[in-house]
Amino acid sequence: MKNIIIINGPNLNLLGKRQPEIYGHKDFDNFLIDLKTKFQNFNITYYQSNIEGEIIDKLHEVGFDIDGIVLNAAAYTHTSIGIGDAVASIASPVIEVHISNTYAREDFRHKSYISPNAKAIILGFGLKSYELALSSFE
Ligand code: DQA
Repeated sequence: MKNIIIINGPNLNLLGKRQPEIYGHKDFDNFLIDLKTKFQNFNITYYQSNIEGEIIDKLHEVGFDIDGIVLNAAAYTHTSIGIGDAVASIASPVIEVHISNTYAREDFRHKSYISPNAKAIILGFGLKSYELALSSFE
């Protein structure tokens, strides 16, 4: 059985309440139950932090053993050289995901420090972006 972690960055703990016109009405805990039901062939763990260094620490902790990482670094995507470097430094494949199509939004969301180091990028499918990323590990 493959071990996969989903790592969510800042403000994604507010999914369901936060700008639902962009991010939808579902909270991530409920969505995670659906994902675990759908992908019973995976052992899925979940980590969320609003703190840049904690996300880097988690990538270091899991990134040499785990079969796959689904990373939505949220706003840090556009600012964090540190998270980008962490993704480059680890061995496990990282799929960068975004709920919204960041390229259809403000210019500052067009830059990603994760993309050059990610195995692939999936964005703009709402929460389904996570599902598509997980299915890529099948
Ligand atoms: C996001 C897009 C980012 O620009 C934003 O800062 C987020 C969420 C997304 O999933 O669409 O917090 O990563």
